[in-house]
Amino acid sequence: MKRIHIEIALGTLFIIASSVILILMASEEPARLARYETQQLASQIEFGAAVYEVNCTSCHGSHAQGVPGKAPCLRCPDLFEGRIAEVGWQGSLEDYIVSVVTTGRQISTRPGLYQGEGQGPPVMPTWSDKFGGPLRDDQIRAVAAFIMNYEEWAANPEAVPTPLFVVDSNDPIALGRVAMVQYGCTGCHTIQGLSEAVTGPVMNGIATRAGTIAGYASAEDYIRASILNPNEYLVEGFNEGVMPQNFGEIIPAADLDNIVAYLLTLTDN
Ligand code: HEC
Ligand code: HEC
Repeated sequence: MKRIHIEIALGTLFIIASSVILILMASEEPARLARYETQQLASQIEFGAAVYEVNCTSCHGSHAQGVPGKAPCLRCPDLFEGRIAEVGWQGSLEDYIVSVVTTGRQISTRPGLYQGEGQGPPVMPTWSDKFGGPLRDDQIRAVAAFIMNYEEWAANPEAVPTPLFVVDSNDPIALGRVAMVQYGCTGCHTIQGLSEAVTGPVMNGIATRAGTIAGYASAEDYIRASILNPNEYLVEGFNEGVMPQNFGEIIPAADLDNIVAYLLTLTDN
């Protein structure tokens, strides 16, 4: 074979090989997207569970089961079956949840049943930071996804529900994870499965990195200093003064210990 023939043959082979690869990739694409979406939803629900845990358990109960006299069940058939028709809501149930959580409730629609914690208006406080509440839109959407996740179980209440996220109040690591959401750390830092944020460094692997930084006695020492005096050691690629400087004043010592305990478990990237 002449050289030019060999080149043509190689070229043709190359084109065939890359088409095969492209076809294989394309047929894998919907499955990959579906996996990605499921994974996204799962992490949103988990994030919503943490938001729920911190803000909603006092009235709606530790497992969203409701508290008689205080606040309704958020995992029961009532909510998923007739509730939006009962209140005359035109949109989807998920939008109803987002809307109620965003604005809160001044007056109970079921005063005989649920009167809220303080037993008077507002029966549920406003949650959105747009109206002076503590939650951002992404946190409200996540908590709505967490509640919507109970729909399947509500339709079949005999099935044993899998608790998604039950915080053991004796477990400093579990409490530290919740505190990361509570104090807004997850608004800037990515933690796989909990948050996706790019303002600060990714927290996965922090426990390992922290042990290699000169000038600190231990990984724990570095992590504590990074939270209390963020400017003392600047992570490459990030600017001074972005991370709040006053966590030492606003986070009680016990919560700070829990956060440090939790971050020390994040050894893998
Ligand atoms: C201070 C007590 C209190 C807290 C804290 C609270 N809620 Fe409520 N919530 C209520 C009461 C009371 C109602 C029922 C009002 C009514 O019947 O009109 C309610 C209703 C709701 C509803 C509508 C349910 C329905 O059947 O129409 C949703 C959804 C909801 N709350 C979600 C949340 C979420 C999410 C959180 C945490 C971010 C939260 N609530 C925190 C007291 C509270
Ligand atoms: C407004 C955004 C923001 C918030 C909120 C925030 N951080 Fe940070 N954080 C940063 C930035 C930016 C850096 C990197 C610059 C530096 O080293 O100070 C950083 C650095 C860190 C580091 C060192 C990371 C490393 O890779 O060495 C730790 C640990 C940390 N933050 C923990 C926390 C904790 C815990 C909270 C919540 C109590 C929190 N951060 C809240 C932006 C934030």
